[in-house]
Amino acid sequence: MIKKIVIANWKMNPLTPGEAKVISKGIVKASDKLKRTTVVIAPPFPFLSSVSLSKKVFLGSQDAFWGGVGAQTGEVSIGMLKSLKASYVILGHSERRALGESDAFVSKKIIATLKAGMTPILCIGEKARDHHGDYLSFVENQIRASLEGVSRKEISKIIIAYEPVWAIGKTADDAMDSSKLHEMSIFVHKTLVNMFGRESAQKVKLNYGGSVEGANAHDLIQNGNVYGFLVGHASLDSKKFAEILRATDK
Ligand code: PGA
Repeated sequence: MIKKIVIANWKMNPLTPGEAKVISKGIVKASDKLKRTTVVIAPPFPFLSSVSLSKKVFLGSQDAFWGGVGAQTGEVSIGMLKSLKASYVILGHSERRALGESDAFVSKKIIATLKAGMTPILCIGEKARDHHGDYLSFVENQIRASLEGVSRKEISKIIIAYEPVWAIGKTADDAMDSSKLHEMSIFVHKTLVNMFGRESAQKVKLNYGGSVEGANAHDLIQNGNVYGFLVGHASLDSKKFAEILRATDK
């Protein structure tokens, strides 16, 4: 049975730990009947200890700095996240890249996350599309640079979330359509085969993110050739998120 995964990226929401608790409880309840889908909640750092978890719902973070402790004002380390039982780390999200996060930083963070025995979720995706296919080389370069230093053995432990920036934060109608997603998943896979060889590359789980909602989740998972989703706004409403989970688990 193919295992699937849906990651709730709460971004800079909600405002209080009490709200975080309520949403996460709803997600835990909605996950109870899932047969083949693992759920990850990635709340803002201050709420890592506030969210409810279960045998099916795991804890993730939205970023991490390498190391355990040290002189890094304002950073939160992978070691600290591990001590709070986080097992997944989202890295290189486009909203962080827009603030200056470089591929070089992302690759250092991926390597440190793997070393800590946690699962990195690497976000990639073009800002816009063009008729010349430049976005393909953009995505390929991003994959190559973000995975610099990752070995053939380690690549199988990484989740890649393909998130075209133009599709983020909209509605299901503006998300990528499943046939285009299928093409892109082949392209990402081919890039990974070129880098790591077929055997290792085929173990990488590719997810999609960008306006996934209840209305499009079923089509994207059935026809998009992906293992799951990275969900932003729809993960803050446990009822809407439950629709995505049901569609994924079918
Ligand atoms: P969205 O966000 O579901 O609100 O489009 C996805 C993401 O940015 O990870």
